[in-house]
Amino acid sequence: MMLRDGQGQPIAIRREDYAAPGYWIDTVDLTFDLDPAKTRVLNRMRLRRNPDAPIQPLRLDGDELNLARVLVNGQGASFRMEGDQLVIDGLPYAEEGDFELEIFTTCCPIKNTKLMGLFVSEDTFFTQCEAEGFRRITYFLDRPDVMSTYTVTLRAAKAAYPVLLSNGNLVEQGDLPEGRHFAKWVDPFRKPSYLFALVAGKLVAREQRITARNGKEHLLQVYVRAGDLDKTEHAMNSLINSVLWDEARFGLPLDLDRFMIVATSDFNMGAMENKGLNIFNTKYVLANQATATDADYSNIESVVGHEYFHNWSGDRVTCRDWFQLSLKEGLTVFRDQEFSQDLCADASARAVKRIEDVRVLRTAQFPEDAGPMAHPVRPDSYIEISNFYTVTIYEKGAEVVRMMQTLVGRKGFEAGITLYFERHDGHAVTCDDFAQAIADANPESELARLLPQFKRWYSQAGTPRLAAHGVYDAQNRSYTLSVVQSCPPTPGQPTKEPFVIPLNIGLLDANGRELPIQLEGESEVTRGTRTVVLSRAGEQLTFVGLDAEPVPSILRGFSAPVILDFDYTDAQLLTLLANDPDPFNRWEAGQRLGLRAALQGIAALATDTTPVLNDAYIDAMRSVLRNPQLDAAFKELVLTLPSETYIAEQLDVVDPQRVHLVREAMRAQLATALFADWEKVYEENHDTGAYTPDPTSSGRRALAGMALNFLCLAARASGDTVWPGKTLQRFKDAGNMTDRFNALNALVSSGHTLAAQALARFHAIFKDEALVIDKWFSLQAGASDRGGDILPLVKQLMKHPDFSLKNPNRARSVIFSYCSANPGAFHRPDAAGYVFWSDRVIELDAINPQVAARLARSLDRWSKLAEPYRSAAREAIARVAAKPDLSKDTHEVVTRALA
Ligand code: PHE
Ligand code: ZN
Repeated sequence: MMLRDGQGQPIAIRREDYAAPGYWIDTVDLTFDLDPAKTRVLNRMRLRRNPDAPIQPLRLDGDELNLARVLVNGQGASFRMEGDQLVIDGLPYAEEGDFELEIFTTCCPIKNTKLMGLFVSEDTFFTQCEAEGFRRITYFLDRPDVMSTYTVTLRAAKAAYPVLLSNGNLVEQGDLPEGRHFAKWVDPFRKPSYLFALVAGKLVAREQRITARNGKEHLLQVYVRAGDLDKTEHAMNSLINSVLWDEARFGLPLDLDRFMIVATSDFNMGAMENKGLNIFNTKYVLANQATATDADYSNIESVVGHEYFHNWSGDRVTCRDWFQLSLKEGLTVFRDQEFSQDLCADASARAVKRIEDVRVLRTAQFPEDAGPMAHPVRPDSYIEISNFYTVTIYEKGAEVVRMMQTLVGRKGFEAGITLYFERHDGHAVTCDDFAQAIADANPESELARLLPQFKRWYSQAGTPRLAAHGVYDAQNRSYTLSVVQSCPPTPGQPTKEPFVIPLNIGLLDANGRELPIQLEGESEVTRGTRTVVLSRAGEQLTFVGLDAEPVPSILRGFSAPVILDFDYTDAQLLTLLANDPDPFNRWEAGQRLGLRAALQGIAALATDTTPVLNDAYIDAMRSVLRNPQLDAAFKELVLTLPSETYIAEQLDVVDPQRVHLVREAMRAQLATALFADWEKVYEENHDTGAYTPDPTSSGRRALAGMALNFLCLAARASGDTVWPGKTLQRFKDAGNMTDRFNALNALVSSGHTLAAQALARFHAIFKDEALVIDKWFSLQAGASDRGGDILPLVKQLMKHPDFSLKNPNRARSVIFSYCSANPGAFHRPDAAGYVFWSDRVIELDAINPQVAARLARSLDRWSKLAEPYRSAAREAIARVAAKPDLSKDTHEVVTRALA
């Protein structure tokens, strides 16, 4: 049961209603008798009233629990149920000191398909408590500002569950009668309930002892199923690197003797930062060169880092309430991005990482910020908090932290982080506390000067737009850049106040040489990038001492999460693409040219044989490919056209079929026009020697993979069989998954007849590797549509014996790959894609509401669609919304979409 209003609608929780809890829970002593069908949980807590809160009954949260007993100080207590809450009156007053509360409940882990609380995955017990899963294990004040110390005793059959893990340190273990055994764990750190975890099952561990800089010894463990031990080396190396990096960069040491990572194949999200016992989706742990791609390796490094960094930014200092989620998530994404960049050997690899991060932000977060689910980095209300683990909270939140670093400098930011942890260690705090600490450590900074205004990044939703315009004044040898900022309305926020925007700018001459920078009224001249801080609705920046009109390189490094409109000429963009010393803007110039061509092609109703790209663009791309100074990874990014999603975002009315057609035409043109270069690129880059997942060799594999893709695409047009044949051979001979998968992808995405046998062979080789089979499903469901053939294929894949709707990774590999990642196949004029979508949302909602609600978001942008798509999509959403007994999760998404 959930809280509902008079109309039976779920009630929204509002940030302004925050009140401190009426009680504190100092200690929790949990005893589990683990059994898949009926697990018994004895919960003995010491509580006391919060003297600063109004006198009130104790209301404990619960969800799908069977309550057997409630004792207060060992005596039967009077209690009642109000919905899902257990309410107890007549408890001792604050002056009477603390009291003991004992609660005995049972639950049924084997039937837990929501994967929240205690569940069973492949005969192993796991927990997931963030955000509100602990209440599915026992009655509790399940909110992050209630912090307690935990003692946990696990009891289970020894043969079936030899490994028993929980947070903190193992203090006792031994055998029990009837083939059972126990383990007792004590976590010395106070924590909120969402960081509780237990694991019990047949697992093995890779172990590593490390000595930190401060001389302390730690035991690191990565637990997996017995057959997977050979896939744990990279996760362990990533963990070691994370420990060393956090100490070196921010002075934050590992505070536990033992740090554990455990992998499960049934997980709603990527991973979870439970104190000392991180639980991971197998996707972000398991890798060897035969089964994992370079992208997998790099994701594992980020996610292992991310969860480890939460040990400080999340666990030691946590959130006061869930509206502050970005306090830990935005900061921790920023930290994992910096970690991955710092592991790069050179500036080019760092820039590649930055471009990849920005690409995620712009293709996923910008649409969110412009759609019905738009919300501020610190939201004001929610119905279901699980729906707010979004790219806005995570990725935009990270950009907000990054802007603070830009405003106070790298050293100043490190000082700010130090102050933040000094002030708030062991507490549950707010985004305001964080921003204040960074500003206080840098009292002379622009951040300190503009702090209240800067914090609008936390309170205002929507992506700000910068309209910039430049005028050269030959007489005064000056160049004036006018910049006007605006931000579109978002749900509940019709108007916006100006943001503080750090704008990194450089100026190039017509030959692409960087010009010195001097703003009007300044006596100093600087070289390279200048950071200008915008804070008004409109501003003018006048650069002086210029002999000719410069080419401005604005928003270098993507210094703020905004959309920059500047009316560049093609010639200016070509100059930037060929010369900008800022690699981000160099890449961005190519993206702008590609986007411009796509938009022109769409407007001109291009057919699939109309040339969309002009010679200048093709020549520029050829020069990039041939440029010996540029790294392969960077070339691959430049030659990747803006995605269909990103192109669609630039249009007021979207015909997804036309977007798809035009982009495919552009790809075909790149394939044929640059054919000889693709051959050369392939020859030069396909042999990367003994496999290592480092940025340089993975960049070369990515570029060789791209070349193969274009060569097969060109072969499709010309009827050539040589390259498809070579690609099949490459697929068979490949020494690593990256090369093998790229070859398979080239055959599948060009629709070549050889694809079928390659797919069959791939399945046969990897039938026992679940994560590889996910790739096999996902590649097919995400393949380019040729005459409506993908939807029937997707339906067929769902009947495959390896398919399961209950396993989130598998469900995502087929359904999400089709509905969210394959717009050209999903948006069908006959609406069959939308009907399929609504059936799956409804079906999944009964199994796993979190996964269903994510899927529900694939039609977020329905109102931008052209007819007939628009009406059909609306109807499909309305069909879902009309379903009785929808979860809060899905209900919130579809009702917001229709609002
Ligand atoms: N807190 C996790 C992370 O960002 C994500 C998560 C949220 C996992 C909710 C599970 C449930 O690392
Ligand atoms: Zn996180």
